Order: sequence, then C-alpha cells, then structure tokens
Amino acid sequence: YFMLKEIAEQPKAVADTLLGRTDGSGSLTLDEVRIPANVLREVGKVVIVACGTAFHAGLIAKYAIEHWTRVPCEVELASEFRYRDPILDQQTLVVAISQSGETMDTLMALRHAREQGAKVLAICNTNGSTIPRESDAVLYTHAGPEVAVASTKAFLTQLVACYLVALYLGQVRGTKYADEIRAVVRDLGSIAGAVERVLETMEPVRELARSLAEKNTVLFLGRHVGYPVALEGALKLKELAYMHAEGFAAGELKHGPIALIEEDLPVVVVVPSPRGRSVLHDKIVSNIQEIRARGARTIVVAEEGDDAVVPYADHLIRVPVTPTLLQPLVATVPLQVFACELATARGNEVDQPRNLAKSVTVE
Ligand code: G6P
Repeated sequence: YFMLKEIAEQPKAVADTLLGRTDGSGSLTLDEVRIPANVLREVGKVVIVACGTAFHAGLIAKYAIEHWTRVPCEVELASEFRYRDPILDQQTLVVAISQSGETMDTLMALRHAREQGAKVLAICNTNGSTIPRESDAVLYTHAGPEVAVASTKAFLTQLVACYLVALYLGQVRGTKYADEIRAVVRDLGSIAGAVERVLETMEPVRELARSLAEKNTVLFLGRHVGYPVALEGALKLKELAYMHAEGFAAGELKHGPIALIEEDLPVVVVVPSPRGRSVLHDKIVSNIQEIRARGARTIVVAEEGDDAVVPYADHLIRVPVTPTLLQPLVATVPLQVFACELATARGNEVDQPRNLAKSVTVE
C-alpha cells in the first residue's frame, strides 16, 4: 500500500521539512514567508483554517502558538469559517493548512479572509497549487507526494511547519529568546529518529489491530495536545476501517462519553508526559482507572519510562520521550499503523477508502 510506504517515509519527511529553515546562528529563516516582520509584529490574532487531518494539525498548533507567542489563536473548520461572519482585520494572520492546496472549503475561507484585509499564510505540501498561489505567503511542507487518501506524512510535516511558524512569530515578536528557539529546533531535529524508533516497534500494535477486526466501536481519549491526536486516531479508523470511532477530551468523559463504556470496549488513551504538565498525567491515569473499572479494554499510548500507567494498561504502546508540545509527532504514528492494519484485516482497500477523495475540490 502507498499508505504503508508513506507511514514509513515519515522520518525523512519530517527531517526534510526542517531542512534549511535556520541560519548558521540557529535563528529561523523562513524565506518563503514574505510577510514583513513589522506586519507580523502587529498581528493581534491568529486564525487557522483547514479540513480533515489538516484541521487536527491546526488544533495542535494552537497550543504551540499561544504558548510561545502569547497571541490568541483560533482554529476553525474551513467549511464553517466564512458563514459565521468571522471578525477579521489587517492585524489578523490566517493560516490555511492544506496538503493538496486545492481543497475548495479552505480556498473559499482564505479568499474570504483576504477580502476582509487579513494576511494569509499557507502551509502546503503541493508546490504551485491554488491555495499557496492565492495566499500572501507560503511555508511548504516537504513531505513529497502523498498518494494514499488518508493523510499520514503530510500531517506530521504540517505539525513541524506549524511549530516553525509559531517559533518564527516568537522570534520576530521577541516573545522567545534565541536560545529557547534553538533548543526547540534541536528537539524538532531529534523527532525523525524518534519516529524511526516508533516504527521499529509496531509489530505488537499490528497484532492488536488484527485482534480487534470484529469490533464495531473504538474510542480515543486524550488531553491537551493529546486530544487532537485522539481525534486524528479516530478519523483514521473511520476513514480506513469504516468503524465507529470517536475521539474525546479525557476531561469530558464524566460529562457524557463514560456512558458508552461497556465490557471489552477498546479505548485508546493518549497519555501526556509525566514530566512537564504532570497534573494532566495524573488526571488521565485516573480516567484510565475509571474506564477500566467499567470494563473497557485499555490501549495506552505512553512515554517510555512512564510506569504509573502500567497497572491499568491492557495493552501498552510506548513512544519515545519528547517535550510535551512535540508528543503528537510520535504519538500519532502508532494510531496510523493501528488503523491501517485494522482496515487491512477487515479486507478494506486502504489507499482508496470508499466514498472518500484525496482532494475535495467542491464545497
Ligand atoms: C480530504 C482527504 C483528507 C484530508 C482533507 C483535507 O478529505 O480525504 O485526508 O485531510 O481532504 O485535505 P487537504 O489537501 O486540504 O489537506
């Protein structure tokens, strides 16, 4: 399958997206971002528009943008954006994320934004496509052509590009010191190797996926940046395995989703690092206990060395240690493999799922 090939290409894709983005001193030089620094310094709000998997990249980017730049950031489905009469002006930076650069909903959203005077930066994987052509600036993800309908390597590189944009904003606005930027860029540089290590340990995930081929429902839970990862894991399973799959914010469990838990229901839980925001870690560990006490079969994605989850994990998927904000770059990968293998076990056409198109050029 192209999808397997594209999953395997992710370490290189991530490394390629980082290539040539810094100068000798470690400062970011995003040459393609032709929006002048003085305009970026005046930005009062960032609005991210995208569809599907690219929307999930945007949801994760929000955490990095707000944390590193202290600029408010909204993320909106492109198909909803212009119909609610969004508040846009010359101080708004709209970031349009699209693998193909041809998604009509995203294109219409950015046209609307530009009509209102906002500046538009595209994050795109396809050189010369319509969305970058109609934007004020573009940052290309260098994932290489993505053929499988379900997006994998494009997603990881969109995340890298979003982190670069967030750091660049922090650089020009002076909210991030040069050495802090260098440290994050260094962390990003080690992600390719970390993804490689994840890929080397996927056999148990494939085995688990095959064992769940007869199930009807799989739920996904996450917190903080793990929440959009849960949404993306669920989307992959819907797209490929045609199963009922839903992602929830783990904190919302008690407000509804916990009613869905029944004996032997597979629930994938994306666990944040116990370091850093440890309060989130403790809360999600109690979520895992709660669902397990109600019969759920827990599939836990957790950092290497996180021993607190071990007693409550029916299946444990380890990912390398990363800084909190970068965890989605490694935690998404097992969920892609999981969906691909489960779809294969169900006899589905992985690269061309029913009813879906790679690029949706109608509204
Ligand atoms: C389609 C594809 C998805 C993709 C979405 C957005 O629905 O099936 O995989 O995430 O479009 O595409 P884009 O090219 O704009 O990233």
